[in-house]
Amino acid sequence: MLWTLGCTMNTTTAATYTTINGATTTGVSMWLFLLLCPPVLALLCSKLLRAFGLSPLAAARQKLPLPPGTMGWPYVGETFQLYSKNPNAFFAEKQKRYGSVFKTHILGCPCVMISSPDAAKFVLSTRATLFKPTFPASKERMIGRQAIFFQQGDYHACLRRLVVRAFGPDAIRDKVAGVEAAAIAALRSWNGRLINTYQEMKTYAFNVALLSIFDKDELCYIEEVKQCYYTLEKGYNSMPINLPGTLFHKAMRARRQLAERVAEIIASRRKRGVAATDLLGSFMEGKEALTDDQISDNIIGVIFAARDTTASVLTWIVKYLTENPRFLQAVTEEQEEVRRSKEQAEEGDKCLTWAHTKKMPITSRVIQETLRVASILSFTFREAVEDVEYQGYLIPKGWKVLPLFRNIHHSPDFFSEPDKFDPSRFEVAPKPNTFMPFGNGTHSCPGNELAKLEVLALLHHLTTKYRWSLPESGNGIQFAPFALPMNGLPMRVSLKT
Ligand code: HEM
Ligand SMILES: *[C@@H]1O[C@H](CO)[C@@H](O)[C@H](O)[C@H]1NC(C)=O
Repeated sequence: MLWTLGCTMNTTTAATYTTINGATTTGVSMWLFLLLCPPVLALLCSKLLRAFGLSPLAAARQKLPLPPGTMGWPYVGETFQLYSKNPNAFFAEKQKRYGSVFKTHILGCPCVMISSPDAAKFVLSTRATLFKPTFPASKERMIGRQAIFFQQGDYHACLRRLVVRAFGPDAIRDKVAGVEAAAIAALRSWNGRLINTYQEMKTYAFNVALLSIFDKDELCYIEEVKQCYYTLEKGYNSMPINLPGTLFHKAMRARRQLAERVAEIIASRRKRGVAATDLLGSFMEGKEALTDDQISDNIIGVIFAARDTTASVLTWIVKYLTENPRFLQAVTEEQEEVRRSKEQAEEGDKCLTWAHTKKMPITSRVIQETLRVASILSFTFREAVEDVEYQGYLIPKGWKVLPLFRNIHHSPDFFSEPDKFDPSRFEVAPKPNTFMPFGNGTHSCPGNELAKLEVLALLHHLTTKYRWSLPESGNGIQFAPFALPMNGLPMRVSLKT
C-alpha cells in the first residue's frame, strides 16, 4: 500500500498543494540548495546516467512513440526554463507548440503534462487505477503516511466513504449555523483594522475545519491542536533534514504531540460514549473504524487540504469583487435579499440556512469564476503504475503525469476571453472536464461543499454589513505556496454606517 518515491522531484514542489512557482528567486535558490545536499547529489548521478541512455527507456521496449516535447538537459531537465518564467506561461507555450499531451523533464522526473478534457478524464476518472497519487516522501512523513491523499484501492475507498460521510451535503447542512458564527466572529475581529486578508482567511478556514472535525466540548484540547499544527506547518516547506534544531525536526515532534492530543480526545469520547457525526466521529464509528494513528494522519491531512486552499480562494474573491464593482453590487444585492428573508424568520431562527445558501446564484457564479481565473491548484500529480498507452503514445511506467487544470481553465476553446473575470459565463454550465477546480474522479475534493459554504457565509456578512478598501491595489502575485495577491492583500475593514 505504501511506496517510496523513486524520484526526488517534489522535494521542493509539494505535489498537489504547491503550484510550481516560477519567477520567484526563492524557488530557484531553494532548489539550488537542494542540489547541494549529498543524497540528492548521489541521486543526481544516477539520474544523469539514466538520462544519457545507460538504462533502456521503456519506449525502446515497446513500439509506441513517446508524446512530443523536449526533455531539456539531463536531470536539470527543463526546470530552469520552468523557473525562469511564469510557470503558466511555460505550460501554455509548450501546449501551443506540442499540443495537449507533451513530455518534459522537471526536477529530475520525466513527466507527461496533459491539458485536454479527454486526457484529464482518462487519467483522473476512467483509467484512474493506472495512475497513483504521488507525493515526496518527506511530505508523506509530515502529513502522515496513512492519510487519504497517498492511498489507492480498498483502503482509499474506505477512507473516502468516511470523509464523505462527514463532509457530504447531508452532514454539512447541520454545520451552517456553526460556519456562520465563525464568519461573524472573524469579521467582527477585523472591524476597524488593516488586516492581512490571507492570514485572516487562514484563521477563519482553520476554525471552520476544526468545527467540522471535533465537537464543541473538545474546545479545551483544540488550542493545543492548533499550536501543534502551526509548528508542523513551519516545517512543511523546509529541508527534510531530521536533526535536532531544524524546522523539520520540530515539525515531526509537533505532529507526534498533535497525534497524542487526538488520542486523548478519542479516549475521552469513548469514555463519555459520544456518538458524533463530525469527521472524528465518522473515523471512530462502525465496522470500518480506524486506528488512532490512522485517525491522526487523516485529521492532519484534512486540515492541510482545507485551510490554505479555501483561504486563498477567499482572498482572490475579495480582490476580484473589489476590482469589479458591477459584480460586487450584484452580489451585495443578492445577499441583502437573503438578509431580509432571514429577518422575516421566527425570533431565534434568524440564521443562515442550507436552503439560503442554495439560493445564491450570482454569488455562486462569482465563486466559480474565481476558482477558474485563479486556478489555485494549477495542476496535480500522478504517476503511471505501468506502461500506459494514450492516443497512440506511450506513457512509461514510473513517469509523472500532470493534469494541468489551469491550462484547461484558461483555454479559449472552452472559455472565451479566458483571462477576463466574468462570472456570467457560468450562466451556461461548462462542458464536462473543462472546469475542475476540485479535481474529478476517485481523488476529487470531498470538501468542496464545505468550502463553498464557508465562502458564501463569509461573503454574506462581508457584503451586507461591512465596507472595505484595498490600500495596495497592484497586480503583484506571490506564491505561498499558491498564487496569492501580493502581501496577502492588505484590507481595511469597517462596519457600514
Ligand atoms: C476552495 C477550496 C478547495 C479547493 C480548490 C480544493 C481542491 C481540491 C482538489 C483539486 C483536489 C484533488 C487533488 C487531486 O486529484 O490530486 C482535492 C482533494 C482533497 N480535498 Fe480539497 N479543495 C478545497 C477545500 C477542501 C476542504 C475545505 C476540505 C476538507 C474539508 C478538503 C479536503 C480534501 C481532501 C481530503 C482531498 C483528498 C481526496 C482524496 O485523495 O481522495 N478540500 N481538493
Ligand atoms: C467528471 O467526469 C465525469 C466523467 O467524465 C463527467 O461526467 C463530469 O462532468 C466531470 N466533472 C467535472 C466537474 O468536470
